[in-house]
Amino acid sequence: MLLDSEEVQAVSQPVHPEPKVKHKEVSAVEDAESQQETEGNNKRHLNVVFIGHVDAGKSTTGGQILFLSGQVDDRTIQKYEKEAKDKSRESWYMAYIMDTNEEERIKGKTVEVGRAHFETETTRFTILDAPGHKSYVPNMISGASQADIGVLVISARKGEFETGFEKGGQTREHVMLAKTLGVTKLLLVVNKMDDHTVNWSKERYDEIESKMTPFLKASGYNVKKDVQFLPISGLMGLNMKTRVDKSLCPWWNGPCLFEALDRIEITPRDPNGPFRMPIIDKFKDMGTVVMGKVESGSVREGDSLLVMPNKAQVKVLAIYCDDNRVRHAGPGENLRIRLSGIEEEDILSGFVLSSVAKPVAAVTEFIAQLQILELLDNAIFTAGYKAVLHIHAVVEECEIVELLHQIDLKTKKPMKKKVLFVKNGAIVVCRIQVNNSICTEKFADFAQLGRFTLRTEGKTVAVGKVTELPTVSSSA
Ligand code: GTP
Ligand code: MG
Repeated sequence: MLLDSEEVQAVSQPVHPEPKVKHKEVSAVEDAESQQETEGNNKRHLNVVFIGHVDAGKSTTGGQILFLSGQVDDRTIQKYEKEAKDKSRESWYMAYIMDTNEEERIKGKTVEVGRAHFETETTRFTILDAPGHKSYVPNMISGASQADIGVLVISARKGEFETGFEKGGQTREHVMLAKTLGVTKLLLVVNKMDDHTVNWSKERYDEIESKMTPFLKASGYNVKKDVQFLPISGLMGLNMKTRVDKSLCPWWNGPCLFEALDRIEITPRDPNGPFRMPIIDKFKDMGTVVMGKVESGSVREGDSLLVMPNKAQVKVLAIYCDDNRVRHAGPGENLRIRLSGIEEEDILSGFVLSSVAKPVAAVTEFIAQLQILELLDNAIFTAGYKAVLHIHAVVEECEIVELLHQIDLKTKKPMKKKVLFVKNGAIVVCRIQVNNSICTEKFADFAQLGRFTLRTEGKTVAVGKVTELPTVSSSA
């Protein structure tokens, strides 16, 4: 677990992007065919991250999805009910499907991103259940950076929507991070509609929709095209697999959660682009196995690839997609790839498995456009400012070495005046240095590898995108 204090310490010492961010696989059923060699099925695959303020009901909704899709049986639910009761957390039994660690069950809070799979008519989904608590934002960032779409869970319970939405609440932070990290579409589920303070009230639902809409717009989402609102009860499993009964909620004419997920359209990635897979984890298993999501291109058994930034030549021995061995895989897939030609110790999370012909850029310096969100204690942002850079799976200390120019918020054009410092809210173009070579790309070329956040003392202080890379790679 990465606590805020660890990030602070990281600033004064060189940090290596060790895999600090943790994930846990939730395997609800033993799949008899799981080891079978297959070419996968033809349904598209999407990663969906569940985000939102602490206790909004992300794990409960995720658990309910697995239950409704037949992956958890009644006996297991009864066992969880008993365990939750023994821990005086009666209502948390559904969340226990996703929250598999003892610490998470005792505290009733997700710590590590939970990962699970389910299917609708058209799509295979990987659910990434992010933690809502502010101490675990780095884990949330890691989950969101792998996602295509997001389910933003908002609690409609009296007082809970308000706390999540106020300044410093995670609703705001998560939306902004999701947008920056490349989550292009959001389903906004207004949860806990069954709660006695809500009782499927249309007024409450409308209130939340009307307060969230301007904020989502300001965060860069096109609310008409990219966002869909819907009411659910994650705990009761209502308006999830089937539409909510009219006798309970006469005013809702829209889809249920499964339908909405099924219908989401995203721009397809390029299967013929240069191969890019940021490595989020690695382990030893009859060779070296790396885990990650393909952001561009395709991979086949037998391919020769590079592990960047250390330019290690490797060969693909085997490819696994959701536990199935496959011969090839395309963009958007979460894979485990067994490699020869490299030791597990020589890989760090944040390294990128990359095509040999067109390898990913490896740099120690780049130019980026930053939006300053909230500096600690109203500090000023100037050359010499240090922070922790989170870019795809990389976590690395960085320093702002030069402010180049400020962007006028109204005209969106560069301002002529030389800029020495900026304050909260400013947009500024600057040169950023890191101690260790990192893999990145221009945002315009590969959005997923070119957008990042800067954090200090456990807070996100800026979001940014890479605009220019040095022409000659400065990597060793
Ligand atoms: P973190 O992982 O800590 O961020 O929380 P979370 O968003 O995963 O919330 P979780 O699923 O752990 O649920 C928190 C509490 O809200 C539990 O007591 C749940 O029973 C309750 N809850 C979740 N969904 C619903 C719902 O639809 N209705 C009601 N009444 N309670 C719910
Ligand atoms: Mg949770």
